[in-house]
Amino acid sequence: MRTPICNDLGIEYPIFAFTHCRDVVVAVSKAGGFGVLGAVGYTPDQLEIELNWIDEHIGDHPYGVDIVIPNKYEGMDSDMSADELTKTLQDMVPQEHVDFARKILSDHGVPIEDSGADAFQLLGWTEATATPQVEVALQHPKCTLIANALGTPPPDMIKHIHDEGRKVAALCGSPSQARKHADAGVDIIIAQGGEAGGHCGEVGSIVLWPQVVKEVAPVPVLAAGGIGSGQQIAAALALGAQGAWTGSQWVMVEESENTPVQHAAYAKASSRDTVRSRSFTGKPARMLRNDWTEAWEKEDNPKPLGMPLQYMVSGMAVAATHKYPNETVDVAFNPIGQVVGQFTKVEKTSAVIERWVQEYLEATGRLEEINEAATV
Ligand SMILES: Cc1cc2nc3c(=O)[nH]c(=O)nc-3n(C[C@H](O)[C@H](O)[C@H](O)COP(=O)(O)O)c2cc1C
Repeated sequence: MRTPICNDLGIEYPIFAFTHCRDVVVAVSKAGGFGVLGAVGYTPDQLEIELNWIDEHIGDHPYGVDIVIPNKYEGMDSDMSADELTKTLQDMVPQEHVDFARKILSDHGVPIEDSGADAFQLLGWTEATATPQVEVALQHPKCTLIANALGTPPPDMIKHIHDEGRKVAALCGSPSQARKHADAGVDIIIAQGGEAGGHCGEVGSIVLWPQVVKEVAPVPVLAAGGIGSGQQIAAALALGAQGAWTGSQWVMVEESENTPVQHAAYAKASSRDTVRSRSFTGKPARMLRNDWTEAWEKEDNPKPLGMPLQYMVSGMAVAATHKYPNETVDVAFNPIGQVVGQFTKVEKTSAVIERWVQEYLEATGRLEEINEAATV
């Protein structure tokens, strides 16, 4: 399964695991893959604590940090500090949306009065909030890759990361976005198909991956969206990718912070139970369909706001679901891809990597058998 990117990054397998849980980052990198910590929900101080913990537990293995600076978002042209921007954006949130969100929660018996501490917050998805996260990450030498979602990182940020001797990756959902990343000097392009969990475009992986590979060659491409087995990794490499960038699988591992209720919901879900919805973040993201996502779709109801305003509304639901995971399953934010239909149980992270390697060998072995049979 080794590809050139394994040598570039000093890893055994080209398996990249996006996760919000530091334990999963460590477990993946120690198992020979490359763990990437999603920083969007962390303040710079919290991120520093997480990365110190990773450094202490990961041995000599490398890891990455993922930030979110979208190409477009409310307030992107301002040069306000994160605090000033938060205040300005808070004032832009219509009361109608807040009342509607509160009604969805109270109709489901979710206590909101004492769980709204995180409401109206500005998550790390602006340049103002992501830049300090990058500064923290660069203080940690084992963090050798900074990835950006939803856009091309700003040129001065790319230069700064390169000057510090680290690599830059960026996610894309189209060849034209991939072109912009490559032209800006991004080292690794992540082509993410529409079946992926979290923010995603509309084009499916098997169509998108080879288009992006062709567009940016010789820049290495990682395939994302719909990978939850070694067979799917074999397909990604066959289509020209140098590795697999995965996310959904890691909510179903023992080391993840996901609750038993969430695990049960994922294990029960089929590939048709996810939806691309703007109802939590303001941009289309794939998640489990539930009463919250349906409510924002109904014709007469308020429509989701843009990023980052919608999270200032949905943040109260996310805070409530963290506090009351059992009561809030029908309104919770559960980002997950269509690959959820393959998940039946919670596994150990190292067992997932071992299984994927084995399945990859079986898949490639099968192709060899087919070739041999055809040439006899
Ligand atoms: C729970 C969850 C949260 C995610 N959050 C982010 C994020 O904050 N930043 C990001 O770059 N990608 C995020 N993603 C997308 C992943 O990085 C990855 O591209 C995607 O999960 C790959 O497709 P898959 O879900 O089919 O494995 C998230 C995915 C999931 C499942």
